Amino acid sequence: MSVRHRRTIVGAVLAALLASGASAAPAATPGVGAPGAGDPYFPLAGNRGYDVQHYDLTLDYTPPRAGADRLTGRLDAVAKIRMVPTRRLTRFNLDLRGLRARSVRVDGRPARFRQVGDHELVITPIASMRPWKWHTVVVRYGGATGRPKDVEGALYGWVTTRDGAIVVNEPDGAPTWFPVNDTPKDKATYRFEVTVPQGLSVAANGLLKSRRTHHGRTTWVWDAPDQMASYLATATIGDFRMRRSTVAGDLPVIDFLDRDLPAEDRSRSRATLALTGEMVTFFEERFGPYPFVAYGSTVDDDSVGYALETQTRSVFSKVASESTAAHELAHQWMGNRVGPRRWSDIWLNEGWAEYSSWLWTESRGGTTSQEAFDEVLAIPADDDFWTTVVSDPGRDDLFADAVYERGAATLHALRHRLGDAQFFQLAKSWIGAYGGQAVTTEQFRRLAEAVSGQDLDAFFDTWLDAPVKPASR
Ligand code: ARG
Ligand code: ZN
Repeated sequence: MSVRHRRTIVGAVLAALLASGASAAPAATPGVGAPGAGDPYFPLAGNRGYDVQHYDLTLDYTPPRAGADRLTGRLDAVAKIRMVPTRRLTRFNLDLRGLRARSVRVDGRPARFRQVGDHELVITPIASMRPWKWHTVVVRYGGATGRPKDVEGALYGWVTTRDGAIVVNEPDGAPTWFPVNDTPKDKATYRFEVTVPQGLSVAANGLLKSRRTHHGRTTWVWDAPDQMASYLATATIGDFRMRRSTVAGDLPVIDFLDRDLPAEDRSRSRATLALTGEMVTFFEERFGPYPFVAYGSTVDDDSVGYALETQTRSVFSKVASESTAAHELAHQWMGNRVGPRRWSDIWLNEGWAEYSSWLWTESRGGTTSQEAFDEVLAIPADDDFWTTVVSDPGRDDLFADAVYERGAATLHALRHRLGDAQFFQLAKSWIGAYGGQAVTTEQFRRLAEAVSGQDLDAFFDTWLDAPVKPASR
């Protein structure tokens, strides 16, 4: 690599780290990367001392045997991780849960490793790792897969299904299928090379590079060149029918519909997916150009009970309804391109995605955004709904109704206060100014004030920080 090239990369990494505030991390034991990235909701998630640039995941997966009554699959994998230490490192951690690491190499040489608790893979390289240089960590690992649950009891992570897996990591499920720096602050590019029994399909992020079948197994190679948080990675597997198209000019779309969907869910999902192009254009007009190399939707006949905005390839349980599809597509800008730095800021994702879905529904002649807002405001003041603090809902209420609905209502009230021109200018500036970064509510508040020239402290305190119903808008 030329000196000029290297300087550019280090400069870019440094800029990203400064932007993410990683340099402000409290000092840990010198040379040792801490076991958490400092999120108060998920203290062990993510690590400190390095920044991942790229994950290259080679997975070999065998779903449950036909007719097996326990849903467990088999995963054998190699993760090749390119990282840049932010200080000299003698030891560092990756997050890995429920799977066994078999060997670890750092820069081509065997490294010592052990798994501590059920979350930390602690790696001690032979030689200390030099800061601000590329290093490559190769982890061979594997084990039996199951159906993991998050802190609220919802299925997430690598969820084994009868004929594959639904892979949806939000918030901290990525370590159930690969060793990872599991913090939304550390975005990286990805490549997936996934081998499954012939006949099954693999729907991962980005663009499909190749597919080849050998001895009854098919290897799917996906390339995801856009910076991505680990909770947005997927490699969903099933008996899918793949459909490719191009929408909104030149955006490649790759959809996967489960062959086992009941006819009604299939036709409803098909009708929704036929609107993808119109939806992309609708949100491009409001938020700016679609930010990634591709889009698409995967509809599995099994269910985790929700949909997820997995980057460039949203995943749906059983059916893709029009309002949910609009919500997940809007997340590609709001949540994926501009993402939260801390999980407490989740309303920035869900409030925007929900409000986007209100706008889409209104444009189709359905419930207007004003009517949807009025419905939220019709919830009685003594209802528990109003006790959620939207700007800090607590770990176990990350996906509470209020995060979505009061979050969306906040944006509607803001639009009323700013007027359409300023409000949509704010939406575009939000993506334009913070695209590729991990952000905070504070940054959003400041940008809203900058765009409008108004003091919005009382407004945001009332809508986002108070555990009571706002008196008026
Ligand atoms: N972000 C998803 C959505 O917009 C919801 C994810 C819920 N995840 C969970 N582990 N409960 O619909
Ligand atoms: Zn959402």
